[in-house]
Amino acid sequence: MNPSLTRVVTLGIAEWRPRVNPDDTASFARELEEGGVLVLPRLAFDLADDEKRFLHESWSDGRAKNISYDGSALKGAQGDASDLSALARLIARFAADATAMLGAMFPRYAPHLKRARSSFRPRNAASRVGSWRKDDTRLHVDAFPSRPNQGERILRVFCNINPHREDRVWRVGETFETMARRFAPRVRRMYPGEAFTLAALHVTRGRRSEYDHMMLGLHDHAKADLVYQHQCPQREVRFAPGTTWICFSDQVTHAATAGSFLLEQTTLLPLPAMYAPARSPLAVLERITGRALTSALGAFFYDTAMIGYCVAI
Ligand code: SIN
Ligand code: FE
Repeated sequence: MNPSLTRVVTLGIAEWRPRVNPDDTASFARELEEGGVLVLPRLAFDLADDEKRFLHESWSDGRAKNISYDGSALKGAQGDASDLSALARLIARFAADATAMLGAMFPRYAPHLKRARSSFRPRNAASRVGSWRKDDTRLHVDAFPSRPNQGERILRVFCNINPHREDRVWRVGETFETMARRFAPRVRRMYPGEAFTLAALHVTRGRRSEYDHMMLGLHDHAKADLVYQHQCPQREVRFAPGTTWICFSDQVTHAATAGSFLLEQTTLLPLPAMYAPARSPLAVLERITGRALTSALGAFFYDTAMIGYCVAI
């Protein structure tokens, strides 16, 4: 197999709270942190009989890409209050199971896992396309425009709960480093004062670091390059109903091309909690660019020097 292609590794785990021996943890962590997708075809998320009614597109309000739940509010869904609270309970149960599974498989992560948004994606992946930037049928790595994460990892658990035997279909592409070496040189530096202005205007929650800027740049350049989309090394991966999968989606180049009814849990993981932080996108990008990408002090000096330069000329 092409060594620069994302690895897809199948595991036999069949419980949400598995017992995992330390040797297995070490090998799962290596695959995951090196940018692989861990696929658990025997781990289904079961719905109670009265929850199966949620397997219908009509629960989506049609405006948002997905139905999302942040632990208190459900967004993007429509229905009466009791239905919506039952749907929120279903998603909350998935969030708890997904987090428990990550903690059981990767005990080092357990105390550091920060549960972020959960989503239920009833609509077909191919029908959710908006602008090219939001088009997740194109290969990309995940990056949050409004929530800078300063190098923290985006760890996601997905489960296909499709009731019509339809697979979730992804394409996965090159390893992060190969993709980043191609696109990082095309990403412009941040303008002096840009991070400050974005935060002051509440475009971003907190300061966007050079790292966040670079990740958004990689996301956009990869999606905008149609030659790359068609010609880069890639493979299709099909996730059958009843399958769960895990990946660092800030590292795995992925595209969702088909399938409906998916549950997804986003978890943020601080870099020091990784088994090998040197494998993180931040470390890779700092090696490629030769500079620190999350230092607030560095950004301050860069801004000051650039403003001084502009005033001088
Ligand atoms: C994505 O994260 O790009 C989409 C994943 C999916 O909906 O299958
Ligand atoms: Fe994505």
